[in-house]
Amino acid sequence: MEKLSVKAARQESAIGQTVTVEGWVRTRRDSKAGFSFIELNDGSCLGNLQVLAPQELANYESEVKRLTAGCCVRCRGEVVASQGGGQATELKADELHVYGWAEPETYPLQKKRHSFEKLREWGHLRPRTNAMGAVMRVRNRLCRSIHEFFQEDGFLNVQTPIITTSDCEGAGEMFRVTTLDPANAPRTEAGGVDWARDFFGREAHLTVSGQLEGEAYACALGRIYTFGPTFRAENSNTSRHLAEFWMVEPEAAFFDLDDNMDLAERFLKRLVGDVLRDCDEDLALFNQHIDKTVIARLEKIAESAFVRMPYTDAVALLEQSGEKFEFPVSWGADLQAEHERYITEKHVGGPVVLYDYPRSIKPFYMRVNDDDKTVRAMDVLVPGVGEIIGGSQREERLDVLTARMQEQGIEPDDYQWYVDLRRYGTAPHSGFGLGLERMVQFTTGMANIRDVIPFPRTPGHAGF
Ligand code: 4AD
Ligand code: MG
Repeated sequence: MEKLSVKAARQESAIGQTVTVEGWVRTRRDSKAGFSFIELNDGSCLGNLQVLAPQELANYESEVKRLTAGCCVRCRGEVVASQGGGQATELKADELHVYGWAEPETYPLQKKRHSFEKLREWGHLRPRTNAMGAVMRVRNRLCRSIHEFFQEDGFLNVQTPIITTSDCEGAGEMFRVTTLDPANAPRTEAGGVDWARDFFGREAHLTVSGQLEGEAYACALGRIYTFGPTFRAENSNTSRHLAEFWMVEPEAAFFDLDDNMDLAERFLKRLVGDVLRDCDEDLALFNQHIDKTVIARLEKIAESAFVRMPYTDAVALLEQSGEKFEFPVSWGADLQAEHERYITEKHVGGPVVLYDYPRSIKPFYMRVNDDDKTVRAMDVLVPGVGEIIGGSQREERLDVLTARMQEQGIEPDDYQWYVDLRRYGTAPHSGFGLGLERMVQFTTGMANIRDVIPFPRTPGHAGF
């Protein structure tokens, strides 16, 4: 007996086959004509499979008529052309087995629509909702495209460490793994300090970025990318920040900032193009219920060239905009979300790459420009989300790098291996980081980043 997913059983090509389908009940409707309709979903697609359960089933009265939302079942029967509208096929069941009941008094996902805030309280059950299922299928498509894009382009996937001693962004936003405090350190059974469980008594943190380690591999293997979890101990309770998020970071030797911008643009276009092509059913849901402009926005990305603008021009534009911003703009200040949104949404109406930022607001590793005031940084901003990519050409000159470290209060000896890369066969190189969750937000229109990752970690919600 062939097992089919709901997605496969909904195809016209399945008509005439006798198959088994397993999934969770969304609704049950009883007809006076002696049968019940059960809407079944298994996560393979947005649409449900309509199962027609006739009263001839041995367990029709005892079980079928007791099915409620959330029950898990296996149905066997013939796939037939559906009489009613809305779906091409339905399953005419000749056997229905109940794997698991779901108490209707307590099962939280009832037919009425719940707010996303409410759904976060049921983090283990929200994947059974249409919205979360659609988010996860888009997220999966993006992950697959990320690997495909870089693999096809000759980038090697390099796994950089999660536990690390370096602070890539120099912002001190690292979660500590170790206590280094005998009074609070883990203990062995014998009662002594168990330094092994305190990362061997060394100071260590969760990585904020795989970039520095990625640079070592790019400066040997040419083109690499990392893709993994990243941690930020910033106490930002916003709809765009997570304490744990996923980042993809390409790094390429012999790339300058223009090459880096070209790569970022090609990369985003590819991701968006794949989602538009392969996630049309899910995108239609987002476009109808979440953000009526999401498909148009994505189509625009795929078609038009990204505007590229120096930071200095962006500041001038903001100053002359006549807008009342909460945070004042002036050359040398970091741009706030409201400024980024003005530029992409009101001024350009599409993605923008800002580059050549003031050196004082950017990390030590970015290449200093000839003007001595700016560095070869780039941020890609998109409507709705703001910054989606941050990157730069790296400082490859030994003397400039060590001076920049000292300027930022970083001891070059603590980063000796990183400095060594400039000492032995230094090479021009560049890279960037794309936040996966911000990309999922952008492609779905979901307003809150907590709703595009399976189990969000934020200052207000770190458990579970
Ligand atoms: O701009 P960021 O901090 O850049 C870096 O970490 C560089 N080392 C990347 C590189 O050049 N290899 O972060 C890169 C991207 C941001 O543009 C944003 O999309 C995402 O990572 N990001 C976050 N996403 C969710 N929650 C947070 N707290 C994030 N912080 C950054
Ligand atoms: Mg950034």
